[in-house]
Amino acid sequence: MFISFEGIDGSGKSTQARLLADHLKNAGQEVVLTREPGGSSGAEEIRKLVLEGDTDRWSATTELLLFTAARRDHLERTIRPALADGKIVICDRFADSSRIYQGLGRAELGDLVDQLHALVIGQEPDLTLLIDMDPEKGLDRALSRNGTEERFEDFGVGMQLKMRQGFLDLAKRYSERFRIINGDQDIEAVQNDIRAVLDPMLA
Ligand code: ADP
Ligand code: TYD
Repeated sequence: MFISFEGIDGSGKSTQARLLADHLKNAGQEVVLTREPGGSSGAEEIRKLVLEGDTDRWSATTELLLFTAARRDHLERTIRPALADGKIVICDRFADSSRIYQGLGRAELGDLVDQLHALVIGQEPDLTLLIDMDPEKGLDRALSRNGTEERFEDFGVGMQLKMRQGFLDLAKRYSERFRIINGDQDIEAVQNDIRAVLDPMLA
């Protein structure tokens, strides 16, 4: 089973993905917890190229190609081998993040996101947990982390609002695999809602 977490920056994806991985391991499952961009050594190198340093050194199209290259490497080296071994893969962001972060801005890039996905990725998660929440709260959380990877968080609240709506639209377009989780609760309550989705599926 391939599970992805999606949502705006600071919505709690990494926190919840980690807690879910622990929960499933305790229940006796073999779990691979991974993330994008990254999740394999080559893809982690590409992560540094897109998230650190001078933000203007890539065009929007080049950046999309880098995210897609990272995803392809991640799929080849980490995700597919783990799924073939019968493990549960939990991924902090996947292709839906490209549909939002690269695809929302310009219509022509949105088409390219879909074309590239069909050409070189061609895989969707079995389940996508969308952690939905108020962007102002998400941004406060994300900025309070104070790391070096601030590129997308720098967009501000207006952009995050657009992205939140974009994710909700994707949840409608791919309703068979999306579940919307209310992220505006304490960490334990969010995790309980996630387990309420997963536990019956795995039983
Ligand atoms: P994301 O991976 O979606 O960017 P994180 O899981 O890294 O989000 O969380 C961002 C910050 O918010 C972290 O400092 C985390 O500890 C905190 N956080 C996560 N979930 C909650 C929550 N439900 N309530 C309050 N703070 C949270
Ligand atoms: P991530 O580490 O998940 O950031 P956060 O924890 O703040 O949510 O992802 C880093 C950034 O990369 C995030 O701002 C979204 C962006 N991103 C894309 O633009 N396209 C993609 O395809 C992916 C996977 C991520």
